[in-house]
This record gives sequence, structure tokens and C-alpha cells, in this order.
Amino acid sequence: MKKHQFLDYRNKLILAPMVRVGTLPMRLLALEMGADIVYTEELVDLKLIKSVRRLNPALSTVDFVDPSDGTIVFRTCALEKSKVVLQLGTSDAARALAVGKLVQYDVAGLDINMGCPKEFSIKGGMGAALLADPAKAAHILRTLSSQLEIPVTCKIRILPDLLDTIRLVQQLAVTGIAAIGIHARTRDERPQHRPHPDVLHAVASAVDIPIIANGGSRDMHTYDDLHKFQALCGADSVMVARAAQFNVSIFRKQGILPVDEVIYKYLRLCIDYDNAPHNTKYCVQSILKELQETPRGKRFLQCQTLQQICEIWDLGDYCRRRQQELKDRGNAGRANVILTQCPTKRQKLGLPDSSTDEYQGVIYRNVAFLRSTYTSDTQLPKMMLYVHAGRTDKEPPCYETLRCDKLFRAICSYDGQRYSSSFWEKNKKQAEQGAALVALLQLGHLREKTLLDNGSLIS
Ligand SMILES: Cc1cc2nc3c(=O)[nH]c(=O)nc-3n(C[C@H](O)[C@H](O)[C@H](O)COP(=O)(O)O)c2cc1C
Repeated sequence: MKKHQFLDYRNKLILAPMVRVGTLPMRLLALEMGADIVYTEELVDLKLIKSVRRLNPALSTVDFVDPSDGTIVFRTCALEKSKVVLQLGTSDAARALAVGKLVQYDVAGLDINMGCPKEFSIKGGMGAALLADPAKAAHILRTLSSQLEIPVTCKIRILPDLLDTIRLVQQLAVTGIAAIGIHARTRDERPQHRPHPDVLHAVASAVDIPIIANGGSRDMHTYDDLHKFQALCGADSVMVARAAQFNVSIFRKQGILPVDEVIYKYLRLCIDYDNAPHNTKYCVQSILKELQETPRGKRFLQCQTLQQICEIWDLGDYCRRRQQELKDRGNAGRANVILTQCPTKRQKLGLPDSSTDEYQGVIYRNVAFLRSTYTSDTQLPKMMLYVHAGRTDKEPPCYETLRCDKLFRAICSYDGQRYSSSFWEKNKKQAEQGAALVALLQLGHLREKTLLDNGSLIS
């Protein structure tokens, strides 16, 4: 079968698929640092199938957008086109094929996750569940390999028995796939357990298909360690997850870079590609690790917006300028999609129209509740509003909470009016404080300038 763009999986340094980590900015940084191939985070077929492909001229990206809420399911760009492999979570050949056809002209390869031990995957018959059903796994791979224009691979784990592992790899290898990534641990082994490079070595010797060794991050501290693990496994290539999550410059031949330099480079890409703030924050947290305990780390943990994060790494001005530039160029973000395609879910979630401050009778402001800016409990917004009610002989404020995934938003009802922050918060209490903050601001009990100065209010 002639593939329009054949990706060679031999002698490659590969960024492993990592949920939340493997989004566009991290993939681009990994390539800049020296990775040859970068995998996306696992994307589930059902989510991708219903997404809409859009060119985003402001960012020069291709976006696959969830039409029900406008979120970006997958964002990619020309810089990575010949090196990005999309990892798919699937249990169904027809669905996987539909996704493959949707994305095949925007990516260099498609990988099927056959190693994820998480309950969500197993229950859906995806990930490591496929290891127990080799016939189904082979059917999915054969369907994709024979009908897509791009190379197809899979990522598996070893089985408890070596011969079973070899048999499985042989069974999958004849489906037409271009390579197999193998995590050198069994389904029940956790990341802290030692990997089994000897098993990979035995498998690699028994098959012809390129083997990509994975699972060696525990002992990867320098660039040379990547090649050491590859050699130990007798593999054709090496795939790195956690060592790259902590410091992606592990791919850099000239040596690892200091953490702050990595964060600076990463944040610039997040700004350039309008990466979601919660995703940016998660990745920076992974890089900072124990540095989160320092005063600067604690300040960082309070951040809610990309702008606030960027201020800490001296990228505040760049972030402001670039965000304005992107807005001027018409970067749609999520708003356009939400408004035109799914008002129902939008209303259910209580999302405001980004161009107005009032939506369905609720007054919204871009105010984040930053706990570190309050020195005493009596200054907390909810307390201030409660005290105000007592002094002016009004009913105390009451709160209702909206929840979306693991994030919260609250609406504060006070004196016949409803208030909410447009930011999603990590917990219910913070969401209520954010809503009270909006009420105080609108009622004139807090000055806009104070909130702008302490970074709570985004104009
Ligand atoms: C944050 C994180 C997210 C991950 N997400 C995925 C994923 O989406 N798909 C997948 O196949 N494996 C995923 N993994 C597993 C890794 O790809 C890899 O197999 C595992 O971490 C072992 O490699 P390492 O020793 O280099 O970390 C993830 C691992 C981490 C740490």
C-alpha cells in the first residue's frame, strides 16, 4: 500500500503520548529540542468523530473543534505535520477508520492505544482491554492500515509471559502496521515499578517490525540515557514520557536546559498558539515539581489565566501584545462555535457571550478569585458581601453552583440581581468567592483598579 507520506520509525527519539501534556505547544517544544516524532495525547474516537475541522488563519493552525461546546479537541499546525502521530483511543474498527479519514491529511501517522490500564479505557473496551482480545486488536489495525494513506502503529504493554508477548507482537505485526511501541511493563505494573528491558530485547530479536522502546524514564536524566535504554531493549527507537514531561530538553543533544528556560520557551509557544490556561498550568506544574513550594511557586499556583502565569516568567507584555494581535486577526477561540452551533449546551453551562457582560439575566465579569491577595478572612468577598447585606438590611446573598468536568462556576443572587465570574474555578468555595467578587465590583464596593492591579480582573 502506497502511503502519501511515509514516516520511518527507525532510529528515532519520540515524545510519548501523554494526556494533557502532549498538546501542540509541548509537541513543538519537543521537536525544537531534538525529538524526531511527537505523539499527541490520547484522543478518544467518539470525541474526534463529532469534531469539526477548521482552519484558524489567525494562529495558522488546523483545529478540530467540538461543535457542542466549542472546545478544541485537537490543534495542529504545519510545523509538525510531517512528525506528529495522533494517538487514538478506540475499541471499534469502523469508528477508528472514520477518525483516520478525518485527520489523515493533517498528521503523519495514527497510533492506537492498546496499553492504557485506566478504568475508563478498559470499561470502554479500549487501551489495555485490547491486549486481552488480540483478534479484535488485529482487526482494527488491519482495517486502518489497509484503508488509510498514513502509517498506522499501536502502543502496547508487555504481557506477564514472554512467549505470550512475542506471539501478540507477531500477530499484530502482520496487520500492515509500520511499528509497535512497547511499554516495558505489564498492565498491572505501575510507573514506580522497574521496567523489563530484557523482555523487550527478547521480543525485538524475535520480530522484524520496528520496535519502539518505552518505559525507561525512571533512569533517564540526560540525553545519553535515552540511547542507553534503547540499546538495553535492543529496540529500533525510543519513546519518552515522564522524563520529557518533567524537562522536555531531555531530547537536546547539547544537554539539558534549566527549568526556567524550558518554562519560558514553553509559555511563548502557549501564547503563540493560544493554549488553554488550565492545560498550560498543568504542564508548568509538572515541570516545577517541588519548586511549587517556593514563594514564586505558590504565586504561580494561584494563577488562573495565561496572562497571570506569563507575568511570573517575564512574558506579561508579550502575552498582552500577542493576545491583542490574535484578537485583531480574528482568532475565534471557542466563542464563535459556541454561539452558532450549540446554544443549548452553552446555556446549560451558563456560558456568557464573550462580547457582552450580561447573559440570561446574569452579570458576568472576567474576575478570578486569587486567595493570596487576601490577608484576612474578613476581607474575603463572600464575607464582605454578607456584611454589606446586614448593614443595609438586605437578604443575605445565596449561591448556586454549576459544574463542568472538575471545574466549578457559581452564580451569586443578591438584592434582585445575579452575578457570576466568567472563570471556572477548581472548587465550589472558590467559585462562590469569585461570584461574590463580581457582585462587590458591580455594586461599587471594590475598585476596578484594585482588582486590575492585583491581577484578579482581566479587562
Ligand atoms: C501524564 C501522563 C499521561 C499519559 N497519557 C498516555 C496516553 O494518552 N496514551 C498512552 O498510550 N500512554 C500514556 N501515558 C503513558 C506513557 O506514554 C508511557 O507509556 C509511560 O509513562 C511509561 O513511559 P516513561 O517511563 O517514559 O514515563 C501517560 C503517562 C503520563 C505520565
